[in-house]
Amino acid sequence: MVAVAILAAGRGTRMKSDLPKVLHSLGGRSLVERVLHSLSEINPSRCLVIVGYQGDRVKDSLAGVIDHLPPIGSLEFVEQTEQLGTGHAVQQLLPHLEGFADDLLVLNGDVPLLRPQTIQNLLQTHKTNQNAATLLTAHLPNPKGYGRVFCNGQNLVKEIVEDRDCTPAQKQNRRINAGVYCFKWSQLEKVLPQLVANNDQQEYYLTDAVKFMAPVMAVDVEDYQEILGINDRKQMASAYEILQERVKDSWMAAGVTLIHPDTITIDDTVQLSPDVVVEPQTHLRGQTVIGVGSRIGPGSLIENSSIGENVTVLYSVVTDSAVKNGSRIGPYAHLRGHVEVGESCRVGNFVELKNSTLGDRTNVAHLSYLGDATLGNKVNIGAGTITANYDGVKKHPTTIGDRTKTGSNSVLVAPLTLGEDVTVAAGSVVTEDVPDDSLVIARSRQVIKPGWRLNPEE
Ligand code: UD1
Ligand code: CA
Repeated sequence: MVAVAILAAGRGTRMKSDLPKVLHSLGGRSLVERVLHSLSEINPSRCLVIVGYQGDRVKDSLAGVIDHLPPIGSLEFVEQTEQLGTGHAVQQLLPHLEGFADDLLVLNGDVPLLRPQTIQNLLQTHKTNQNAATLLTAHLPNPKGYGRVFCNGQNLVKEIVEDRDCTPAQKQNRRINAGVYCFKWSQLEKVLPQLVANNDQQEYYLTDAVKFMAPVMAVDVEDYQEILGINDRKQMASAYEILQERVKDSWMAAGVTLIHPDTITIDDTVQLSPDVVVEPQTHLRGQTVIGVGSRIGPGSLIENSSIGENVTVLYSVVTDSAVKNGSRIGPYAHLRGHVEVGESCRVGNFVELKNSTLGDRTNVAHLSYLGDATLGNKVNIGAGTITANYDGVKKHPTTIGDRTKTGSNSVLVAPLTLGEDVTVAAGSVVTEDVPDDSLVIARSRQVIKPGWRLNPEE
């Protein structure tokens, strides 16, 4: 079975960032994670990631997402302590692949838009033709920065020359190397020690290996956008646009309405359902799921949250939370830090909920903050009700039973339990637990002084 190597040791100087280039996020997934996703059709036996610059950070990041990756065999990390070029990176595999008798697929860690099918086709061509090496190429309108591929006849590769090493005449060649190769390992391992750093960058180039191998075949991709490499922030932005177009096209084909799609962004980790409507200026991120018939936006951000069926979210921010069927969120609500909203609830008009649970048919409709609170069913939280959940040192919980109603401008000082069917009088500051079926009034009584005047002479 094929093994895979991913080159991810470089810093990515042109990104001008402390973060290793391959960890920069593109629509919710790092570049290297995306490369791993492009392996979903080939089922490799081993996957060796070559790390160097901030290698531990790259390892930790991939360990964190391993459950979301397609099957890639065993994930192994190989150190390249000094980054002396792509050929030098692959040389680091020699002790790890001793005796390996099959093909090695090599991918640059900064080529994030490859389709799984494209990689499968590359492998197929490689095997069918029994090539020593097969590589992906494309004809780019603007090939600047890429290695140029020179062929004998149609598709047999003679050499690859880096952009900076090209003569003006060679620069006219628009056929570029995508940085995706399949090698017969038994041949590559003999060639690797022969590489020399005889070029403008004084680096060991993997691309030089093809000069010593035969036959080496070039396979054109149909859609050159797939093989765009990311070297700087501008290319990152272009790749993001391509990705967004793919994601949006596929959701529209699956029955989702996107109103003014150019103003919407959707991570490809998001799951939508038929008859979802996404309104303008709405952003759906991370592990978000949205159920049938829900309408999100305008002007909303949903991140790592699960939204049920027939929910509306209007001008609101929902992160790390869950909203059940038929509830209405917003305008201007903020749900964060593990909020669970039951069925047919209403939350909105300047309401912030944090780490709180609402039962079914519960309303928090105006100007409230509830933190660390657990509410039953059919609770009505009056306008301006606040849980005072933080004493300056610790956070404390509030529990509110079924059908309880708080009056406007109540302050619930936690820790606090209000039983079922409790009524809190408007303007109360409640500091002690209230049993079921009670009215609590916790404010000073109103005083009326008849005939009183500020200035009795007037
Ligand atoms: C490389 C190719 C070029 C091709 C282009 C496609 C070479 C010499 N050139 O150029 O022909 O058109 O990709 O995008 O291979 N890396 C290491 N260790 C190193 C150096 C690089 O792991 O010592 C990794 C980087 O992290 C990166 C990948 O290899 O993920 C490619 O390196 P980069 O410097 O971006 O190569 P390019 O100049 O883009
Ligand atoms: Ca590159």
